[in-house]
Amino acid sequence: MNPRHFISLLDVSSDELRALIHRAIALKNHRDVDYQPLKGQVMAMIFEKSSTRTRISFEAGMSHFGGSALFLSPRDTQLGRGEPLRDSAKVISSMVDCIMLRTDKHQTVTTFAEHSRVPVINGLTDQQHPCQLLADIHTFFELRGDIQGKTVAWIGDGNNMCHSYIHAAMILDFTLHIACPVGYEPAADIVAAAGARVEFFPDTVAAAQNADLVVTDVWASMGQEEEQKQREIAFKNYQVDAKVMAAAHPDALFMHCLPAHRGEEVSADVIDGPQSVVFQEAENRLHAQKALLEFLLCGK
Ligand code: CP
Ligand code: NVA
Repeated sequence: MNPRHFISLLDVSSDELRALIHRAIALKNHRDVDYQPLKGQVMAMIFEKSSTRTRISFEAGMSHFGGSALFLSPRDTQLGRGEPLRDSAKVISSMVDCIMLRTDKHQTVTTFAEHSRVPVINGLTDQQHPCQLLADIHTFFELRGDIQGKTVAWIGDGNNMCHSYIHAAMILDFTLHIACPVGYEPAADIVAAAGARVEFFPDTVAAAQNADLVVTDVWASMGQEEEQKQREIAFKNYQVDAKVMAAAHPDALFMHCLPAHRGEEVSADVIDGPQSVVFQEAENRLHAQKALLEFLLCGK
């Protein structure tokens, strides 16, 4: 039987996603140290790019559940010396119970999954970051209830996070307002699949009108460091500042997947202000991914 993978948010149904989020909230509210559903199980974590939250949350989550996690970098494995992905996937999946990958190219994760005997989790690619969305949705649900029918404003780059927000809007039935500079829009096929749930706005204040949640991300993602200067010019009018938050609902939340650059995509008064829930959002990576591991490995 083919294992269940989590490469995109679209790999789960809306009922499954809601159940997973409610389970994450329950796991967070009551930690039973004797509950070890993954006792003896091993997760391989392959990181082609840096990470603080993703690595620690998966490693701690496996440990809480009685299992363990291996940190693998291409530098230290044969992957970095050109061993074919399909061979690596077959070998690694014959020895572990789950594989998480953070890669540059999205196709690396999909190829790995095709040849893996065990569940593969996308820990971020150039195209998507579904695990972060689990934490963002978890945070919204615990603070505001279901997100169905709400409005979310995405300000900034049409990047991996933006794509996963588009998927979330499709699955959970909310409206996504997007304001991004010309030339930095999300991929046309991903936008087209979302239909009327996604609307584009010419400026940040217009996008934030009536928003229940305002979200942004760095102007230059990992791997785009050489474009930093050019992006600073293109994105100069795309900062989430007090003016943008004032256009949203008075009780709107502010989220950012972190790491953040204060003074670039977000002003310090917003990210460190009362509407910001970025540290709760970061902590929820742990709880949401524990629920994901249960879902994929225990069939719950
Ligand atoms: N938000 C996020 O994925 O953080 P890391 O890059 O630290 O894992
Ligand atoms: N868009 C960012 C997210 C980091 C968690 C990046 O890909 O670098």
